[in-house]
Amino acid sequence: MIIGGGPAGYAAALRGGLAGLSIAVVEKDKVGGTCLHRGCIPAKEFLETAAVYRTVEGAKEFGVITEAPSVEFAQSQARKQKVVDQLWKGLQGLMKKRKVTTYAGVGRLGPGRTVTVDDGTELVGRHVILASGSQPRSIPGFEVDGKLVLTSDEVLDLEKLPESAVVIGGGAIGCEFASMLSDLGSKVTILEALPKILPGCDADVAEVVARSFKRRGIDIRTGVAVSGHEPSPDARSTTVFFGDGEMVTVDSVVVSVGRRPCSADLGLEGTAVAVDPRGFVTVDEYMRTSEPGVFAAGDLVDTPALAHVGFAEAVLIIDQILGERAVPVDYSKVPWCIYCHPEVAFAGMSEQAALEAGYEVVTKKDPYGGNGRALIVGEPEGLVKVIAEKLPDGSAGRILGVHMVGPWVTEQLGQGYLSVNWEASATEVAQYIQPHPTLSETFGETVLALSGRGLHVG
Ligand code: NAI
Repeated sequence: MIIGGGPAGYAAALRGGLAGLSIAVVEKDKVGGTCLHRGCIPAKEFLETAAVYRTVEGAKEFGVITEAPSVEFAQSQARKQKVVDQLWKGLQGLMKKRKVTTYAGVGRLGPGRTVTVDDGTELVGRHVILASGSQPRSIPGFEVDGKLVLTSDEVLDLEKLPESAVVIGGGAIGCEFASMLSDLGSKVTILEALPKILPGCDADVAEVVARSFKRRGIDIRTGVAVSGHEPSPDARSTTVFFGDGEMVTVDSVVVSVGRRPCSADLGLEGTAVAVDPRGFVTVDEYMRTSEPGVFAAGDLVDTPALAHVGFAEAVLIIDQILGERAVPVDYSKVPWCIYCHPEVAFAGMSEQAALEAGYEVVTKKDPYGGNGRALIVGEPEGLVKVIAEKLPDGSAGRILGVHMVGPWVTEQLGQGYLSVNWEASATEVAQYIQPHPTLSETFGETVLALSGRGLHVG
C-alpha cells in the first residue's frame, strides 16, 4: 500500500509492480505529484520559454534577423499543460501496465498497516509506504491569496506575468522563478534572509549566478528580514516592507522560503510512526518508520527535497521488500540541479563544507569563457570547480565535489556525479578524453589541471 502518487510513491509502485508485487496507490489528486503538476516539469517548461526568448532576442548576433520578439505567456502556459498532460497520461498508462491499482482519495494509516481511503474503503498492506509529499511554506504577514501573494503553486498557473515581483527567499525555487520572470520582462527583487542567494551552493557558483542576475537587472537584497506587506486600495499591487525601514511596491509577491511535509492528514496519531517537531516522518537509513512494516520516502522525510532522491528512496524500499540487497542513499553525494539562468549543478561537498569537515583540499576552477562550444553557443558565462582531497605531497587525490554553473550544466553533471560517487581521484578521471568541441571539455580541463597537467589551462 502506498499513500501518495508523487515521484517517491509512483516510483515505488512502478518498481514493485515490475517485480510482481501487488501494489495499490492512494492519491488524492493526480499521480505524478508536485514534480509533474506543480514543480519540476512545469517550472522548467517556463524556464525554457525564457531561454527561447533570450535566444530569439540575441539572434541578430548570429546573423539571424527576426522581427522584435514578444512573449505570449498564455501560449507558454498552454504548452506547459500539454507537456504535463502527456507525461501524466504516460505515467497512468505505465502504472496500469504494471498492474498498480489506484484509489482516488485521502489515505490514512491505521493500526496493523490498514489504510483507509476517505470514501470508506479499507485496505491492508503487508507493507505500507508513506509518500504524501510536501507543500509550500509561507511566512507570517504573507498570507497566500493567489492574487497578490503567490507560491510556486500559483505562479505556475498564471495566465499573465506580473510587471514587477518580489521573490522572498533566494533558494532553488526563488532563483528559478526570479530568473524566469526577469527574462520574460518582469522587474524582480529578491529578498533573502541569509548573506547570499543560493546559500546551499558553493560560494563561487552562487557568486556567478548573483553577478548574472544583477547584470540582467534583478535587484538582490541579502541579509534582510521581511516584515509584511500592504496592498494598494485597488488591490492591484502591494508594498512589501523589509530590512531597516525599506519598501518596494510590486504587482506580485512570490514566497519561496522552503516546503513543509504533508504529514498532518496521514492519521499517524493512532500508530507508532514518529514525526519530528517540523512534521517530517522519522525514518532510519533504510526508510523504515518506527512502525514495523511501514516505510516513508520523498519530501515527507527530512532528506533533500528532490524528485530523484524520492525515486532512489523508493527503489531502496522496494528492494528490501523483495529481500534483495539494499544500499542506503548517500545524501551527501546526490546530484543537485537548479535551472535558473545560468544553470547550476553539483554533487558532493562545496569547498567550504570540505574545509569544515576537516579536509585539506586542492581546488581548481575553470571558466567557460575559454571553451570553444560555449563561445559558439554564445554562453561563455560560468565555471566548473572541482574540489579534491590534498594528498601528503600536495597533489590532488580523491574528488570530493564537482560544482558547475553555466550553459547546460544540468546535462553535464553526470561525469562529476560519477567521479564523486566512484571516489575517483583527479588523476584517474583526467585520463578520460572529452569529445571536442563540447561544453564538457571544461570539466575535463579542470580535472586535467588538478592532476598537474592542464592542456589549455594551468
Ligand atoms: P530552499 O530551502 O531551497 O530556499 C529557501 C530560501 O529562503 C533560503 O535561501 C532561505 O534562507 C530563504 N528564507 C527563508 N525564510 C526567509 C524569510 N523569512 N525571508 C527571506 N528569505 C527567507 O527552498 P525553496 O527554494 O522554496 O525550495 C523548496 C525545496 O524544493 C528545496 O528543498 C529544494 O531542494 C526543492 N527544489 C529543488 C529544485 C531544483 O533542484 N531545481 C527546484 C525547486 C525546488
